Amino acid sequence: MQAMRFNFRTLCRNAAERGGQMQQRLLDALEARHTVKTLPEFGIERAAQLASCTANHIRNLETRGDLPEPRMVEAGSIQRRIYNYNEINRIRDAIGKRPSRPNGAGCVRVVFSNLKGGVAKTTMSLHFAQYLAREGYRILLIDADPQATVTGAFGFIPDLDLGDGDDLFPALTETPSLITQAIKQTHWDNLDLVPARLALQYTDWRLSQPEERGNEALGPPPVRLHRALKQVENRYDIIVIDTPPSLGMLSLNAIAAANLIVMPIVPHMYDISSSVQYFRILEQLCALYEREINVQRLSILLTKVDASTETLNNIAVINGAYGELLLSNRMSLTKELQKSASDQLSIYEIDQPRGSRDTYNRAIMMLDGVNTEILLAVRQLWQQEILSGIEATEASSAGASS
Ligand SMILES: Nc1ncnc2c1ncn2[C@@H]1O[C@H](COP(=O)(O)OP(=O)(O)OP(=O)(O)O)[C@@H](O)[C@H]1O
Ligand SMILES: [Mg+2]
Repeated sequence: MQAMRFNFRTLCRNAAERGGQMQQRLLDALEARHTVKTLPEFGIERAAQLASCTANHIRNLETRGDLPEPRMVEAGSIQRRIYNYNEINRIRDAIGKRPSRPNGAGCVRVVFSNLKGGVAKTTMSLHFAQYLAREGYRILLIDADPQATVTGAFGFIPDLDLGDGDDLFPALTETPSLITQAIKQTHWDNLDLVPARLALQYTDWRLSQPEERGNEALGPPPVRLHRALKQVENRYDIIVIDTPPSLGMLSLNAIAAANLIVMPIVPHMYDISSSVQYFRILEQLCALYEREINVQRLSILLTKVDASTETLNNIAVINGAYGELLLSNRMSLTKELQKSASDQLSIYEIDQPRGSRDTYNRAIMMLDGVNTEILLAVRQLWQQEILSGIEATEASSAGASS
């Protein structure tokens, strides 16, 4: 009897067919559990605190009709007013306290990047974007990682809710303006999202093809995201980009679009070595793409910091090497963030902590500290831009009068 010849190609075709049916069953199950994301709700005192006014001021505006009737909930025998972040932004608008980038300053693009995986790039980009939205800024958050974790955190299930055209791919490979079709509204009125899907992985391969390098109409592969963002950045104050743990074309495009790079590092030996390698590669990239890369600032953010003596020693070593690049606020290891990741939630979106109230409050305090410091760096970039604009005007009028 002749032995059956093993046919690898047939095996792959069959596996893909059976896998497709399995995927459909999984998607059906996911659809049944599909939840609509909502924002946490606060009483009037917290709303007033966030909007920087008094509770009485809000009540007066509502009575005068300068703000819509508030939503009410029963709390025992009384009715309480409740507000979410979107309504708090409306209060800020009504009292003229909505922050924005200053006149004469452009949208700043902040990229969370590191070669190393698992260092909290996604956690920190998601929480930075939501912190900014909570403060009232107009934000575009870009998920440039095919793992699509940020996308999931906004309730989008990649293969269920999103299809071709709903990620960065068309803007990077066809026409920059296609980014407008990829932008999705979220449950935050002032935070839009460019989602990611697993298919986005193909971008790296596609942009590395020789014919792409010669594509005159679209420009060099690493600058395409920057070009695409120019189409939409007048609508936003700050763009935040989450990147994959590699230096493929997606990361490279994000770096070439960045004004500010935030590099999360976990203060462990292996992660520190990887940061050295990352700087070496970045330097080579700058030499290769001198005209495309215009990063104005890089800040190192220590993440997942534990209390061990070894970690403390490592932080002293990092401080000695990178001192001025290091943000003074850091993110300690916290159960609250471990839990929120498994639930695909940001902790700015939960009003009831799943663990202890103390752990939750400490996590929020740390996040606010880190995010305020990064926002300060953004504000400094806005100031620099305004100053250089003034200097350029003065120089040209001095030239004209001489
Ligand atoms: N401060 C923290 N304390 C505890 N857990 C954290 C903290 N920051 C992040 N994590 C957890 O670490 C894991 C990795 O974080 P995250 O996905 O943000 O890293 P990443 O750099 O984006 O990873 P990747 O390179 O795979 O994209 C997640 O489970 C996240 O919840
Ligand atoms: Mg990530």
